[in-house]
Amino acid sequence: MEPINLNDYEALAQARVEPIAWDYIQGGSDDEVTLRANRTTFERIWLRPRMLVNGSTCDMSTTVLGTPVSMPILVAPMAYQCLAHPEGECATAHGTGMANSLMIASAFSTRTLEDIAASASGSLWFQLYLYRNLEVSGEVVRRAEAAGYRAIVLTVDLPRLGNREKDTRNNFSLPSHMNLANFPVEKAEAEELKIALPFTPTWETLDWLKTVTSLPILVKGILTAEDARLALERGVAGIIVSNHGGRQLDSAIASIEALPEITEAVAGRCEIYLDGGIRRGTDVLKALALGARAVLVGRPAFWGLAVNGAQGVQHMLEILRTELELAMVLSGHYSLETIDRSLVKWV
Ligand SMILES: Cc1cc2nc3c(=O)[nH]c(=O)nc-3n(C[C@H](O)[C@H](O)[C@H](O)COP(=O)(O)O)c2cc1C
Repeated sequence: MEPINLNDYEALAQARVEPIAWDYIQGGSDDEVTLRANRTTFERIWLRPRMLVNGSTCDMSTTVLGTPVSMPILVAPMAYQCLAHPEGECATAHGTGMANSLMIASAFSTRTLEDIAASASGSLWFQLYLYRNLEVSGEVVRRAEAAGYRAIVLTVDLPRLGNREKDTRNNFSLPSHMNLANFPVEKAEAEELKIALPFTPTWETLDWLKTVTSLPILVKGILTAEDARLALERGVAGIIVSNHGGRQLDSAIASIEALPEITEAVAGRCEIYLDGGIRRGTDVLKALALGARAVLVGRPAFWGLAVNGAQGVQHMLEILRTELELAMVLSGHYSLETIDRSLVKWV
């Protein structure tokens, strides 16, 4: 079967990934209410297409914190990508770059951040989880800066790991031939990181982070206007509206539903991104209409990787590009600039 949409990639990927790894990739926390809501909430948003608009080609290129990308669709940070493909994050970086998009590499990658940078054919951001020792964390940030990563994404929704019951039942842990490649720790100690992150970031951590790096800083995992305002006070360059793909607090609001209040609170003072449940071009369009500068896709990148390595990731992104372009044209938008709140109606 030649995959023609992201659902096809999901089905093909399932056949190629070990069941225990599949549960880890697909799963959410508790009853997976938030995981489902990330998808179903998009069905409560209708598009209000405009007709007889003058245009021919559709320009989807944009910038993300100053870095040019060919479309407003990026790849979210995801741990343990060697579960899906032997080249892991290196293949994802290569495929994402071939689509002229940008990948955010997870701190918990199974290839080193330097190897990922060497394989990348496009720009990268680095996602940070803090390690017990702040000096170790600072060192990882400095390595990312030296390797050419263009921004640091601090994930703030994981003071502890969410309750992922599939992983508990499966007794899931990273297979013995894979490593948390970025951390200079013994395997046994690294395994501990999964269970309880040794260091919980606070708002003050952002002040520390600014002393370590001159790169722009984003916070990932914001779901309220209150926290968006606090992030702005701390001088972040960007906010990623996210509930971690429904893997952390179950019953947390769907990210697309949280987006409007954050857009309003931020009022253009920093860039806003969204992830969670993006599977169609129309989903991207709805997020852009509600104030996102770009969206991130998570699991679909894992699926592309599992099905066909770098090429699978590239093809998955090209499918989304084609779908977004069609959705834009059919709704009367030939440029990202004309897309605004008037394009959507909530039910
Ligand atoms: C297998 C997997 C691993 C993830 N690992 C990380 C991670 O290391 N750091 C992080 O900030 N988010 C992580 N996430 C969350 C993603 O960055 C993103 O928020 C989420 O997957 C988006 O939802 P989607 O999968 O529906 O597109 C992970 C998600 C998945 C599915």
